[in-house]
Amino acid sequence: MAASSDKKSYDTTGLKVPVSLGVIMDGNGRWAKKRFLPRSAGHRAGAENLKELCRNCGRYGVKYLTVYAFSTENWSRPEDEVHKLMDLFVEFFEKYDPELEEEGIRVRFTGDIESLPERIKKVCHEGEERSKNRPKMQLIVAFNYGGRREIEYAARRIAGLVKEGKVEPQDITEQMISDNMYLPDVPDPELIIRPSGEMRISNFLLWECAYSEFWVSDTLWPDFGYDELTRAFRDYAGRDRRFGGLSSKEAKT
Ligand code: IPE
Ligand code: IPE
Ligand code: MG
Repeated sequence: MAASSDKKSYDTTGLKVPVSLGVIMDGNGRWAKKRFLPRSAGHRAGAENLKELCRNCGRYGVKYLTVYAFSTENWSRPEDEVHKLMDLFVEFFEKYDPELEEEGIRVRFTGDIESLPERIKKVCHEGEERSKNRPKMQLIVAFNYGGRREIEYAARRIAGLVKEGKVEPQDITEQMISDNMYLPDVPDPELIIRPSGEMRISNFLLWECAYSEFWVSDTLWPDFGYDELTRAFRDYAGRDRRFGGLSSKEAKT
């Protein structure tokens, strides 16, 4: 991802909203458990809610929405759950792509996509190709994504450049690392939202979150709607982002 964007997004009421937003879609299992339903029902409700989030973010003026859908660690879940998550992934893009198209939403994927089963890779490649000219917002789905795996990927690419004699080790910079991540053109997220109350990053966008603001809510992902998103944006708009410097008020005194 690219270093933090200096472009700003404002909704129609003048609220400052993030240009680039990350969402860890967590809590599907607990949502289902509360209703005495199988975990797969929670994942289905979570997928429905992703469609709502896309619409709401598009209308709010977010330009890049990165959602954590399946981590490199989620393979450790029971085989049946992993299988159902893969099926749901395929179904989501078959069912909802017309609505994403109507909203002008381009779809991209980030993660170790090449290691995924062929049928999933096909959905990713076709989805990206079909939506590449949609102008309003980019939905970036982190699937088989791990922040450490992404840094490993960048390190391997840079090591290749060194081996070819194109780069000297002492010339490796932070910018070069950013440029060799999965999607270097996507700005680092200004805000990361985690529903369901966990206070951890769970290997999401480790490199890119260096100066992200965090917002954690106890609401489980399938219930995380427009009102909750608005609360997160209002809170974000009031944050003093100092990036290691002084706040604008202090700098003047
Ligand atoms: C998030 O919900 C979905 C994935 C990780 C794929 P969970 O399945 O982690 O839900 P909880 O955390 O068990 O409630
Ligand atoms: C993070 O949720 C991954 C996704 C939402 C896809 P997890 O449920 O896998 O994270 P942990 O295990 O609580 O850290
Ligand atoms: Mg979870």
